[in-house]
Amino acid sequence: MSNALLDVQDLRVAYGKIEAVKGISFSVAAGEVTTLIGTNGAGKTTTLRTLSGLLRPTAGSITFDGQPLETVPAHRIVALGLAHSPEGRHIFPRMTIEENLLLGAFLRNDSAGITQDIERAYTLFPILGERRKQAAGTLSGGEQQMLAMGRALMSRPKLLMLDEPSMGLSPIMMQKIMATIIELKSGGTTILLVEQNAQAALSLSDRGYVMQTGRIVLSGTGAELLRDESVRKSYLGED
Ligand SMILES: Nc1ncnc2c1ncn2[C@@H]1O[C@H](COP(=O)(O)OP(=O)(O)OP(=O)(O)O)[C@@H](O)[C@H]1O
Ligand SMILES: [Mg+2]
Repeated sequence: MSNALLDVQDLRVAYGKIEAVKGISFSVAAGEVTTLIGTNGAGKTTTLRTLSGLLRPTAGSITFDGQPLETVPAHRIVALGLAHSPEGRHIFPRMTIEENLLLGAFLRNDSAGITQDIERAYTLFPILGERRKQAAGTLSGGEQQMLAMGRALMSRPKLLMLDEPSMGLSPIMMQKIMATIIELKSGGTTILLVEQNAQAALSLSDRGYVMQTGRIVLSGTGAELLRDESVRKSYLGED
């Protein structure tokens, strides 16, 4: 893809002898929302962790913004503009909400810009602003998810990767997260989304890939995948 911000070719990742990602290729176009869907254990989280440098591929190539990433350390990957809001949130419960957000800006030293982006996070998620001085562990699950997203945005990423941002959220919270993704996209952020909620994710995605036991078995536009019979059966609960 010529306007690909991220291009992954024949990527393989293993935990010891167990290969979790078995040669996948996909790309994420600049300015688009791309979704990976797939059953539990398909290798989605492993893929995102490899892209952010937390795991090393055993084979294949990762090109981000024209640069190879396979051997770049995780903190350099953040500096290059790739941020990751991990599965299960991983916020720091004893630190305040504001301190958690500031951690996302650890590579920046433009204090005026950081202050501006903290305010932007509070505009995006008002609850975070109201409770900025409270310990993050006092937030509800959905609010912690917002904090994880806000923190990932504090590095001003070119590509934001979100691993199951709607996990465990009420329908209203989930709507809020999905609306935020649309808002971020219209602000120019490219997004790679992993979601169990295939209906919601594909509805707002430009492109999607379906993973099954370490392989990509299907790809298409969000609309195409929503219409696909096998997707409807396996991921949208239809028969
Ligand atoms: N640290 C680990 N050590 C060994 N195996 C692992 C480890 N982490 C994940 N796996 C295995 O790798 C495979 C892919 O896991 P992964 O977490 O990437 O799946 P996933 O698609 O994100 O699933 P889910 O939808 O449940 O989050 C699974 O079989 C899983 O058990
Ligand atoms: Mg996962």
